[in-house]
Amino acid sequence: MEVPYKTSIQEQEEKDLVTSNRKLAHLQICLENDVQARSVKTGLNDISFVHKAITDLNLTDIDLSVEIFKKKLDIPLIISGMTGGHNFASKLNYYLSEAVDETKIGMGVGSQRAALEDSNLRESFEIVRKNAPNSLIIGNIGSGQIALGLSKEEFEEIIDMIEANAVAIHFNPLQEAIQIEGDTNLSNLHSKISNIIKNTRTPVIAKEVGSGFSLSDINDIQNMKFSGIDIQGVGGTSWAGVESIRANSSILKRTGEVFWDWGIPTALSTVLATRYFKGVIIGSGGVRNGLDVGKLLALGADVAGMAIPFLFATQFNSSEPVVQLVREIEYQLRLCCFLTGSKNLGELKKAPLLITGKTAENLRLYGIDPKEFLNR
Ligand SMILES: Cc1cc2nc3c(=O)[nH]c(=O)nc-3n(C[C@H](O)[C@H](O)[C@H](O)COP(=O)(O)O)c2cc1C
Repeated sequence: MEVPYKTSIQEQEEKDLVTSNRKLAHLQICLENDVQARSVKTGLNDISFVHKAITDLNLTDIDLSVEIFKKKLDIPLIISGMTGGHNFASKLNYYLSEAVDETKIGMGVGSQRAALEDSNLRESFEIVRKNAPNSLIIGNIGSGQIALGLSKEEFEEIIDMIEANAVAIHFNPLQEAIQIEGDTNLSNLHSKISNIIKNTRTPVIAKEVGSGFSLSDINDIQNMKFSGIDIQGVGGTSWAGVESIRANSSILKRTGEVFWDWGIPTALSTVLATRYFKGVIIGSGGVRNGLDVGKLLALGADVAGMAIPFLFATQFNSSEPVVQLVREIEYQLRLCCFLTGSKNLGELKKAPLLITGKTAENLRLYGIDPKEFLNR
């Protein structure tokens, strides 16, 4: 017999289904639409290395390795957290993690919220650790979940599910505000997050999803004692854009269009983090090749993150194209070193950079002279 009101079990089941279906819709929208930033760029286009034609280096001897959260990466690259929590995601995570294991890069999983809500969905995350037993694997949960009262036990479960080497808390107020069922009550978020961080056994990273972090955010991130910051600035995938396509009301649809390019460009946000944050800096948001990675490292990031190109690379049937993409990025980064006379990433970080255009203008407004990067 059908009951005229929802039982709490029904309500919970519907909520779980909503989370899982939403993650699937996100994947589909990203695969079928152009959801990249429109008129605002990462700022990496304003930055060039100074070419060095005369070098003593052997291209193949250049060392691209780096140590992040006590894990050695052969290439300073992390696949940014994308998915998990439905069958389709299992496939994606399977092939991505196979490639991660082979190429010795790092990987973040998507929000583990769905697996906290329904333990049947844990497998789509657990597969990552199974396939990449020794790799840097980063867990993921939304700040909205923490505002809603995520417990310390649940946070521990997130770590255990994938034996996470670090956990990213993603901050995505714009996305939530355009999302049909978004969490927009972020009351007391600072103190709730400080409390989670105080009691946790792994490093915790503050991660955006495509709007970057401001100077004021970076100070907050430092004060809340995060161990890392994953910039995810403007210039790549727009989550206002994705949610606007998914929205079912004209207000949300049009607001998503208006705010499509909202936020701090990746290059600017990364430089601000290098000045005001002490911890691991992941340069990300619109990273599309090894030259972008090289520029972010030269701006001061420790490692770079990239999401949507890996989604396209998997083709959902093999890890081989993902490995190919990583090899391509590796070669381009190696060339950045070769053509600037840098024998390792430490030297690349000191390579002179020409910064012009809007990025130079923005840096000056923050009191940072772009010439510092040229004359070092
Ligand atoms: C299909 C898809 C799903 C995503 N899901 C998550 C998520 O669950 N948690 C998260 O922190 N970021 C998520 N992201 C955001 C990415 O980690 C990244 O911040 C953003 O896409 C910008 O990077 P990009 O320009 O390289 O794509 C997702 C991205 C994609 C493409």
